[in-house]
Amino acid sequence: MQAFAKAHPNIALIKYWGKRDTAKNLPAVDSLSLTLGDLWTNMNVHFSSSYSRDQLEINNIADDQNISRVSRCLDSIVGKSRPFANIISECNFPIAAGLASSSSSFSALVVAANNAIGNKYDTQLLASQAGSASGSAARSMLGGIVELNNTQNDIEIKQLSSVERWPLKVIIAITNKEKKSISSSQAMKLSASSSPFYSSWINNQEADMSEGRLAIKNKDFERLAAVSEHNCLKMHSVMWTTRPSVIYWNEASLNCMHAIREMQKTGEAVFFTMDAGPQIKAVCLPENEAKIAQRLSEIKGVVCVMKSKLGYAPISRVIK
Ligand code: DP6
Repeated sequence: MQAFAKAHPNIALIKYWGKRDTAKNLPAVDSLSLTLGDLWTNMNVHFSSSYSRDQLEINNIADDQNISRVSRCLDSIVGKSRPFANIISECNFPIAAGLASSSSSFSALVVAANNAIGNKYDTQLLASQAGSASGSAARSMLGGIVELNNTQNDIEIKQLSSVERWPLKVIIAITNKEKKSISSSQAMKLSASSSPFYSSWINNQEADMSEGRLAIKNKDFERLAAVSEHNCLKMHSVMWTTRPSVIYWNEASLNCMHAIREMQKTGEAVFFTMDAGPQIKAVCLPENEAKIAQRLSEIKGVVCVMKSKLGYAPISRVIK
């Protein structure tokens, strides 16, 4: 029982922040995201009765911190009486730094585990299992532009646009590769209980989702830019007004935002978004990519710039 999977992280344009059910890890709001093709997690999952416990290795280093979350996720796919597993994971971008490494990791994990047991489950079920490990991971089960909707007791994902239909580009300006100071799970919990803006964040999300869907349907870049930046800044306003405040930005993040605003004034098709970390993601049309990447790389505090096209759903194969 051994399989390999490769999955891509995703970044949300209309964000998930807050949970309606902490035990099941169900998000409080719907969300909309881009799957990033040039960033990936490769994962090998090997179940064997010869192992005496689950073991996890990330980028060649044994990891005991995440193993219980990984074990729980494997139980949800394979069952609690499964053999122990050896999990080897490799990631080509910084981990736990606001680049959604949990989204590619848990989607790769459920896909590999499912393949190892003979592909028992479909994409929706795997998305639910990946989502219970990390909410954003459910969206990495599909490629292109993806929507996550809450259903009564679960979630549902759907592709809004294929990679080919609207091949947007994403430039990631890395401003700090360190692990974030507070995990998104912990921070969301604090936001829900203490930010005075939390309820209006939840109540206004559906309006942003509709606007985002329409922009994508019409391939209206300006409309997508406006609602995405607005939604991102609303999520960060909730974070900032959490007690104690959750501020993931640094000076370079803000400098990048200003630079993007300047580029917009001169007619470049670009907008920013940011997640639970100080990295800036600039979304643009293919023809603007080189110029924007160059401009962002010149900003004080930007450590490096990564470029990505949109990516596809995870791939997997059994290892004999
Ligand atoms: C800020 O999926 O990391 O990236 O479900 O607690 O693991 P958990 O959270 P996670 O959420 C991160 C949320 C976000 C915005 C988004 O991706 O929608």
